[in-house]
Amino acid sequence: MKRHLRAALIGIAFLIAVLSSSFIRENIFYSVIATLVLLELLYLRTSLKEEKCDRFLITFIFITFIAAKIFFPQVDPISLVVRTASLLAFFLLNLVLLIGPWSRFSERIRRLYFYRRHLGVTVFLLGSLHAAIIFSSYFSFSLRDTFSSPFTFYGFTAWFIFLWLAASSWDFLQKAVPSWGWKSLHAALFLLYMGAGYYFYTLQQADPAVNTHLGIILLFAGLWIVVAPYSLIRKIMQTYVFGWKQLHVLIYIAYLSILLHAWLGVISLQNVWLKGLFWLSPIIVFGSHLAGWIKRGQEDRTINQSIQATNQEFHDGGKRFIALALVKDFQEGKGKKFYVGKQPIAIFKQGNSFFAISNLCAHQKGPLYQGRFSEGVVECPWHYWTYNLKDGSFLGKEKFCLPVYETRVRDGILFVSEEPVNKEKVRHP
Ligand code: FES
Repeated sequence: MKRHLRAALIGIAFLIAVLSSSFIRENIFYSVIATLVLLELLYLRTSLKEEKCDRFLITFIFITFIAAKIFFPQVDPISLVVRTASLLAFFLLNLVLLIGPWSRFSERIRRLYFYRRHLGVTVFLLGSLHAAIIFSSYFSFSLRDTFSSPFTFYGFTAWFIFLWLAASSWDFLQKAVPSWGWKSLHAALFLLYMGAGYYFYTLQQADPAVNTHLGIILLFAGLWIVVAPYSLIRKIMQTYVFGWKQLHVLIYIAYLSILLHAWLGVISLQNVWLKGLFWLSPIIVFGSHLAGWIKRGQEDRTINQSIQATNQEFHDGGKRFIALALVKDFQEGKGKKFYVGKQPIAIFKQGNSFFAISNLCAHQKGPLYQGRFSEGVVECPWHYWTYNLKDGSFLGKEKFCLPVYETRVRDGILFVSEEPVNKEKVRHP
């Protein structure tokens, strides 16, 4: 079994121990430290880059808990662990959300893409530790008491979403569950969440602010439906979206819930500096997304202008070929992105030949033009799925193809067919 799976199982076993053993709860700080030491030992002899990242993350969490103990000796162990775990989870969640937009600006950050799901699972485990202690020690396992205030319900909302995001980040499930399975899961989770929301509403009816919270929960429900299968997200992305990926868009609802949870629970009672610092995180997160979209829009405009400047086309064998750029503008082995109509495509040069393939990796829409290219094969820069550029086929157990296009060179200009040549074979898993 892979090391990161063993690490996740240790984390889950520890959470079960927190819920089931009063001894662990009474010695919660040292129990957390002991578990982190166990995880350190698990990664002691690793030489893999990815695993070194895991080790770094465990060490970072370990040092943060120790630092919290040193700097806040007067805080009781349960409160100390509850606060440190939530702070770490919030910090890492912001990091998860920033990797996407920042990778548009930095190659080094782009390399972290692969690692994003490990961070996501860590957010879930830390959030669960926070929730397990509160549920058992503060609310004595009572769901009624737990849902007694809106701030705990928002915490539950985020936890519920992270649970399914963490579970569906497992490669095996992503490949094994068919599309209809994800759709059913999506619908079941939505209904389950609505059931929990209704329960919360019935408990809260005496509260004058209940309608505000009901409005927010219905807003979440609306967003949930927007990202659900067959819904807007497909139209926005103009392409196939994996069932599990659609589930992962719920991270934005989880993020909003966490903001509300933290604000109503503690932050609104803090001084103005802490409040400012808190709101700085969503400003940075949403500002970075905006900057990333603007950058992408600018890049696309430049690409489209260069295609329009070339402004040539020809027909051959019933096919329309569109000019993209001058041959001399391409570098050996380095991809370039273009558009054919609205479809983004990646072009690679190998000697005197050119390959054109859809730029969108089937996994998470990673940009293939930034991938490593060699001997007619491209490797996606995000999670390293590979494709044969001749026919677009995925080089793995799944059998499916990405669209590939025919290329022609005329008078020093590269042309590409308007339609994919493997249109009939293009199939998404
Ligand atoms: S987006 Fe994950 S491998 Fe391409």
